[in-house]
Amino acid sequence: MTLKPFCTQLAGTLIGAAIFALQPAQAAAPAPQFTPPPADTIPDGPFGDAVRRGQDIFLHTEKFAGNYTGNSLNCSSCHMDAGRQAGASPLWAAYVLYPAYRSKNGHVNTLAERLQGCFQFSMNGKMPPADSDAIVDLESYMYWMAQGAPTGVKLAGQGFPKLAEPAQPADYVRGQKVFEQQCALCHGAQGQGQHDATGRMVFPALWGDDSFNWGAGMHSISTAAAFIHANMPLSRGGSLSEQQAWDVAYFMNAHERPQDPRYTGDLQATTKDHHGGKHDLYGQKINGIVLGAGSTPSGGRLSGHDPKPM
Ligand code: HEC
Ligand code: HEC
Repeated sequence: MTLKPFCTQLAGTLIGAAIFALQPAQAAAPAPQFTPPPADTIPDGPFGDAVRRGQDIFLHTEKFAGNYTGNSLNCSSCHMDAGRQAGASPLWAAYVLYPAYRSKNGHVNTLAERLQGCFQFSMNGKMPPADSDAIVDLESYMYWMAQGAPTGVKLAGQGFPKLAEPAQPADYVRGQKVFEQQCALCHGAQGQGQHDATGRMVFPALWGDDSFNWGAGMHSISTAAAFIHANMPLSRGGSLSEQQAWDVAYFMNAHERPQDPRYTGDLQATTKDHHGGKHDLYGQKINGIVLGAGSTPSGGRLSGHDPKPM
């Protein structure tokens, strides 16, 4: 007879204790740290071979997965140090977060679908089938890199570290100055990137036909500012002020790039359905040009348009 109240009381005490124990800890809990295994520890055998092929695709995307790319960027052009670098959306931190709901397409995405999107948008190409070698090899590379990491947890270094809103609204003219002084040397005066004599990309394009398209995450000024502040100029990440990073990100993304693959033929409708917000210049008029109105079709040379080495 006294059992039930006792249980209720005990449960109440336990819950109370649990809440007491959890609350301060949760508020202060730092994101767990994780270090991926050294690159030279990929195992021998068929699984290790898949991991190595995934790494090859990640580092030399056009060479090893050229059927699916429409520009000469590599995955590692943005996910630096072969996808290992904290603060540059590292693969080990991404692996443990999927499947995940994405507002971009309004449903739960498997890791395969997430990777397909990278080809379609960032690589301006087309989606490899979910069971293709390219996706399986990339997933193997990610799985190997994330070994021992907790799943479903946002690890320290995940994504691109968001910046606070800029003190002054991001500005084209100030951004142009930063670009000319700090970026053009490598990325080219027209942001077109640089290729060596054999046509191999040495520095990736920041805008134009050989860059990521209007559907890629990097076309958002806030994402680009975060990436640039943490990682650019190359090997001098953190050297720009946050304001400079916002300004140069605005300048970069105020130029034409390949069309959004979700483009319906109606710029206003595509803007309304997939764009908008103060960090997205698609469909806006900048310096007399409506961005997105003059874009070449997405898909690069896959749609008959060959990005020329410059
Ligand atoms: C132009 C830069 C760029 C390139 C090239 C690129 N990515 Fe990304 N990637 C991003 C950005 C930006 C995000 C974050 C997306 C967002 O904010 O929506 C991202 C996100 C991801 C994620 C999810 C990360 C997470 O923590 O959830 C994975 C996985 C990924 N990319 C893999 C790849 C692969 C594989 C390739 C090559 C096929 C590639 N990316 C090429 C910029 C790029
Ligand atoms: C010393 C040469 C160098 C300088 C200077 C430099 N970058 Fe880069 N940048 C690179 C390289 C190389 C990559 C690709 C990363 C890799 O392969 O490791 C890259 C990648 C990028 C990317 C992602 C890939 C793409 O093409 O979209 C962006 C965006 C970018 N840089 C912006 C900038 C901005 C903005 C500046 C100036 C503030 C700058 N970079 C200065 C060499 C440079």
